[in-house]
Amino acid sequence: MPTPHIDSKKNDFSDIVLMPGDPVRAKYIAEKYLDDCIQINKTRLMLAYTGFFKNKKISVMSHGIGIPSASLYVRELILEYNVKKIIRIGTCGTLRDDISLRDVVICMGASTDSKFNRIKFNNHDFSAIADFDMICQAVEVIKKMKIKVCVGNFFTTDSFYNDDKKMLDILKKYNILAIDMETSGIYGVAAELKAKALSICTVSDHILNGESLSSKDRELSFNNMIKIALESALLIK
Ligand code: HPA
Repeated sequence: MPTPHIDSKKNDFSDIVLMPGDPVRAKYIAEKYLDDCIQINKTRLMLAYTGFFKNKKISVMSHGIGIPSASLYVRELILEYNVKKIIRIGTCGTLRDDISLRDVVICMGASTDSKFNRIKFNNHDFSAIADFDMICQAVEVIKKMKIKVCVGNFFTTDSFYNDDKKMLDILKKYNILAIDMETSGIYGVAAELKAKALSICTVSDHILNGESLSSKDRELSFNNMIKIALESALLIK
């Protein structure tokens, strides 16, 4: 039962899907971490795979960049493929002095400059929040791994390149933990369709001092986040 953007069969997906932005990362996760994995989508090269992690069926599919892309894949997965839990594993920027490159951050709620949730929420402010149990499970895993973790408010933006100094000052004033381009939309769709979602990100850019991870560093720090997401997926009921 293909959708406009996913050409997979009804039972190809697990009810838990890990979602990086980048299709190359989806392939990397599937090949490195999943046993008996098969590719189940390649439409628009938005690659998807299903396999087993410690005997649990898990799927991984990329969601592309930005809310319009991520939200349509999440919607089709929930409505047409019976997916119940989404774990976004992405990269993000930060403005905070107490957060460094490579840190793992978890999005409890996501503010945004996007109108995506407003359009669906009668032009009011929807509070885009993570599933509470999924936050607790991820934090439990991270603590066992003895990795630093910070849980807080993200800002999901439609514009990666933004030199609006006033807006950056406001984000700092409100103690925004991280900036990404998808989470508020993913949380909005999950709420609307009664699914659960969590966004875990690795800090790849420090916006105030201009530091950013090299591609090698991105890959190494990404591995921690993949392990966190996979081990958390084992705890999800
Ligand atoms: N802004 C928005 N999204 C991002 C960033 C950023 O600085 N880094 C990685 N994803």
